[in-house]
Amino acid sequence: MTTSTASGKIILFGEHAVVYGRPAIAAPVTQVRATATVTEAARGSGCLLAAQDTGEEVRLSTASPAHPLALVLRLALAEAGINREPDWRIVLRSEIPMASGLGSGAAVSAALVRAVLAHAGQPASPEMVSRLVYRSEEIYHGTPSGIDNAVIAYERPVWFVKGRPAETLPVGRPFHLAIADSGIPSPTKESVDHVRRAWQADPATYEAIFHRITDIVHGARRAIRDGRYAVLGPLMDANQQRLQALGVSSPVLERLIEAARGAGAGGAKLSGGGRGGNIIALVDGESAQPVQAALLAAGAKRVILTQVGGEHG
Ligand code: PMV
Repeated sequence: MTTSTASGKIILFGEHAVVYGRPAIAAPVTQVRATATVTEAARGSGCLLAAQDTGEEVRLSTASPAHPLALVLRLALAEAGINREPDWRIVLRSEIPMASGLGSGAAVSAALVRAVLAHAGQPASPEMVSRLVYRSEEIYHGTPSGIDNAVIAYERPVWFVKGRPAETLPVGRPFHLAIADSGIPSPTKESVDHVRRAWQADPATYEAIFHRITDIVHGARRAIRDGRYAVLGPLMDANQQRLQALGVSSPVLERLIEAARGAGAGGAKLSGGGRGGNIIALVDGESAQPVQAALLAAGAKRVILTQVGGEHG
């Protein structure tokens, strides 16, 4: 039996603009994980994928070529040099809430790739995991930038530009975030489609917003490198303003962001596709508990406190 895992993720800066070739910064959220377990099954029984959270069972031999998990499994088997369908039962589990901007789909796929390669006794490089998971992201999202698969595959903070290898991002001093789930599912594809239609209708305005976001992301990279967190919070607020201008915020997200700021967060913004999903707030030893309490009081379904940099990624 072989078990492998993959972490969740959050986008710190630059979501949406990253789809249009601008840089973005993302970090792993190691407290929530997806798990894939491979066990040998009876001879001739073939390969069965069982997704425990959704109850879905997929037989590899009959799965559609467009099934995201079956596709990743086929690609991983090919990477492992396994050309005949193995007699395996693969169980997938995830603690990562779905459609909330924490990368649940990419994490399940990454855990699956790692488990297949590990069960075959082979190494799975972050580059390979990222490349294979990207293929399932294409099915889930249409035109993913590739940031989710990159950060989950490297399990380190990353600087990401579409079409280029992800760079791991130096973190001068670990910092802390409260991640609050609005409880409103937010399929990434819908919010990406929304921005695309708006951009097509008025490219000049949207390009100007993406340009401003690019400056913010560069500033954030310097602040993170130098551990200057008095600067990082206002940069989160500035990014949030531009996400609002893109039309991907919502009254519920704004309420959570205001609650976090009011309780002493250094800055706050939505994270990921927006319109639902999560917000992130910069906290320190003093503000973490009050911010967490304020977020819950403002209606957050749950709050995760996470560290960026240091031994936690
Ligand atoms: O909703 P999430 O966290 O999967 O993030 C999507 C990030 C976008 O920039 C909106 C889309 C993308 O493909 O990068």
